[in-house]
Amino acid sequence: MNSNLPGVSSFTDRISGDGAEAWDIHLKASEALERGEDVILLSIGDPDFPTPDAIVNRAVEALRAGDTHYAATAGRTTLRQAIADDFQQRSELPTHYDNVVVFAGTQNALFATSMVLLEYGDEVIALDPMYVSYEASLQLGGAKLICVPQPAENAFRPDMNLITAAITPATKAIVITTPNNPTGVALTKSELQSIADLAIKHNLWVITDEIYTDIVFETEHFTIAALPGMAERTITINGLSKSHAMTGWRVGWTIAPKRLTPHFENLTLCMLYGIPGFVQEAATHALKEQRHASIEMRDIYKRRRDLVCSELANAEKLTVLKPQAAMYVMVDVRAYGLSSGDFCRELYAATGVSVLDAGAFGNSAKGWIRISYTLDEGTLRDGCRRIIHFLQQIHG
Ligand SMILES: Cc1ncc(COP(=O)(O)O)c(C=O)c1O
Repeated sequence: MNSNLPGVSSFTDRISGDGAEAWDIHLKASEALERGEDVILLSIGDPDFPTPDAIVNRAVEALRAGDTHYAATAGRTTLRQAIADDFQQRSELPTHYDNVVVFAGTQNALFATSMVLLEYGDEVIALDPMYVSYEASLQLGGAKLICVPQPAENAFRPDMNLITAAITPATKAIVITTPNNPTGVALTKSELQSIADLAIKHNLWVITDEIYTDIVFETEHFTIAALPGMAERTITINGLSKSHAMTGWRVGWTIAPKRLTPHFENLTLCMLYGIPGFVQEAATHALKEQRHASIEMRDIYKRRRDLVCSELANAEKLTVLKPQAAMYVMVDVRAYGLSSGDFCRELYAATGVSVLDAGAFGNSAKGWIRISYTLDEGTLRDGCRRIIHFLQQIHG
């Protein structure tokens, strides 16, 4: 390396979060799968369903009609209004297209929100365990991330005393994910009310990632923006990746008070210049006409969740947390005397089943693994049985 060459910015330090190690097994397993080896990938949150045909057809039609040029940078009004209508229908909160800005996925919307709200000197509270990209995404503008545990003993539900204790004069925002990845916890209306009370009392923003809104099983999804006094201090981020099996299309958005819209628009201008027009047309169709497809997928996820939980119940020493939502089951493997990282490595080496070390999502989840149910029931059953066989081998 030549030290006389120009250097990079300190920004690059803030975007190089930990957690990469946890993905090693997943990457290894994906490569092995490509080589045709006998592996089962239970480590990824990418729906196995194809994007519904009608959505694909809408994109193809738009492409054929020449919709291949620059499109409105903040999103076409038709798409923004479809997002606003969908949100209003679910939340009963009056929402207009100019509350909405379209981004290239929920991740991109989180990046934008972080850039628009947070900077040096700010603290941002997020609940641990949290989605792996949060650490880098929330700190990229220079803010400091304060991780507040959602203790495993409390089934990974938020502890209001811990959140309250973490608030300082520098706190600018609280970030929540409901339903949560990796825990599958969907916050109740009263939990959200307690968070809202804190946000109002201390004059904080709330950033809420609701990407699993459509994959909620027995319980109901509540959105914090709809609580009294919260619409003016909440940024709701969401997208079509999970609800419509559209991870590769890169469609996400922010729903926020109108005063933030010009800032989000400025940011789309300098970092994105809008998502493709044919993708916007397909996304509009997904929101307006394809809700049923999302409900069908949810029902399949529910059956898969039940299957994984009942198969793993055959292992005496595993504690399986039945998720209320999303596409992951959390399993406590501490009774087997291995760290969750070693457990994942040894499981993969012995059985070809890749799962994720949930410790990558935060200290509260150390000792737990995350199993995705993004495969068909036959493969999931096979995967679970391999896990049970592995446990029998390591524990006699
Ligand atoms: C909680 C959470 N937020 C955001 C994302 C990223 O979503 P998108 O594909 O819309 O960028 C994921 C993906 O797994 C996630 O689990």
